[in-house]
Amino acid sequence: KLPKRVTIKEVGPRDGLQNEKLSITSEDKITWINSLSETGLTYIEVSSFVHPKWIPQLADASEVLGKIGRKPGITYAALVPNLKGLVLALESKVDEVSVFMSASEAHNQNNINKPIEETYPVLEEVVKGAKAAGKTVRGYLSTVIGCPYEGPIAPSQVRKVADRLFSMGIDELSLGDTIGVGVPSQVERLLEELLPHFKAHQLAMHFHDTRGTALANIVKSIEMGITTFDSSLGGLGGCPYAKGASGNVATEDLLYMLHEMGIDTGIDFNAVMKSAKFIEGILGKRLNSRQMDILFAE
Ligand code: HMG
Ligand code: MG
Repeated sequence: KLPKRVTIKEVGPRDGLQNEKLSITSEDKITWINSLSETGLTYIEVSSFVHPKWIPQLADASEVLGKIGRKPGITYAALVPNLKGLVLALESKVDEVSVFMSASEAHNQNNINKPIEETYPVLEEVVKGAKAAGKTVRGYLSTVIGCPYEGPIAPSQVRKVADRLFSMGIDELSLGDTIGVGVPSQVERLLEELLPHFKAHQLAMHFHDTRGTALANIVKSIEMGITTFDSSLGGLGGCPYAKGASGNVATEDLLYMLHEMGIDTGIDFNAVMKSAKFIEGILGKRLNSRQMDILFAE
């Protein structure tokens, strides 16, 4: 039985732009995010309060978050790795704080420069501080199916780390197939491990589409009760600390599929395409989605 409605969380301005070699101006980011606010999306991940040396593309997080138009009913979120990032994020009036770590030791170390065990107390402080400031907290867990350094990751390992994150008080956990290696049977095994322990509405899936399996993985997740998915306009995205990781599943391709399946998202497909064309013009390259291919061919 399919759900009537699914929530799409747009991560393009963060996951998308963090991986673009060309840094775009803050003004263009703001214009783009403002156009996303007109599409019916209820959740936009705006930027990251990480070290600008590691992710220079998002060094203007405070400015962007400070200057975008805020539309009622939309959550404007940002990634926050530690207390230093939290202070800046709260100053910029972020609506929701996202903490992040990996299920695999090697990716965690490469991405945030710490072993898993040493990451917990750092994230715990961030969750506490965010909650004290009245913010909701999203957790991200990367490499839930495969790791670029360690290979396949056991679902039991994902459950172990997820348990720790939920016990800190996160409101939702987004499970990342960071390098887009997963296939539906693996998604099924992962969710079979997690769903007896966590509520389906507290889990989101974050599929990168490196091998073209993201939409299939989303259908499997929907069949298993998941109703929140992350995606990125034009299939932008990737983790700079996961070699070969390409973009997220494209929002417009996901919208096309869901709407044709009779699943409502509250999002206007044409408004999304308009916003995709805008960012394509700014980036000066063809975006990687089937819907943009169709538009180009017409
Ligand atoms: P570190 O070097 O271990 O931090 O970085 P530190 O606490 O040792 O501090 C070192 C220096 O960094 C100090 O400055 C700090 O002030 C500064 P110094 O005293 O040397 O001048 N510093 C900061 N500056 C600005 N903002 C901060 C901050 N924190 C410390 N927040 C850290 C640790 C995590 C900060 C670093 O490794 C980092 O920024 N990494 C970037 C990680 C990242 O953004 N990765 C991509 C996002 S995750 C992703 O894409 C996956 C996801 O999409 C899901 C999926 O697909 O799987 C979410
Ligand atoms: Mg990602």
